[in-house]
Amino acid sequence: MDYIVWLPEYSVGVAEIDYQHKELLNFMNYAINHCTGNKREEMKFFNKTVDSAIENLTNHFSTEEKIMEKTNYPKYNEHKKEHDKITEELIVMIEGIKNGTVELELAEVISFLKNWILNHIPQYDKEAKEYFLKGYEK
Ligand SMILES: [Fe+2]
Repeated sequence: MDYIVWLPEYSVGVAEIDYQHKELLNFMNYAINHCTGNKREEMKFFNKTVDSAIENLTNHFSTEEKIMEKTNYPKYNEHKKEHDKITEELIVMIEGIKNGTVELELAEVISFLKNWILNHIPQYDKEAKEYFLKGYEK
């Protein structure tokens, strides 16, 4: 799988959010390195990283949501719904993998999330740029 490359056009103009996005992409690339096709190794990697990865993702979402709420972003509900939907889908998937009802396909999980992120940033986050900037003004 190709690594994800950060592009300047992903920038939402706010250092904290850009930094969190870069960290997410870094983690994705780290995970891509662990798509070896060896089930045992992939499961080990999954078990080791999944909880903190989800925690980082939900912390990132709440950073964005707090700012959008504070600045009365008109599309707050729509944007939050996108965050909630992917979180829900990931949690169901992760629970299934953890309890053994779903077989881990690491490359599939990563590519699912990669597609989501690479659509979400330009489509939803960039649209909120003005409000993110407003939220960080003094
Ligand atoms: Fe977002």
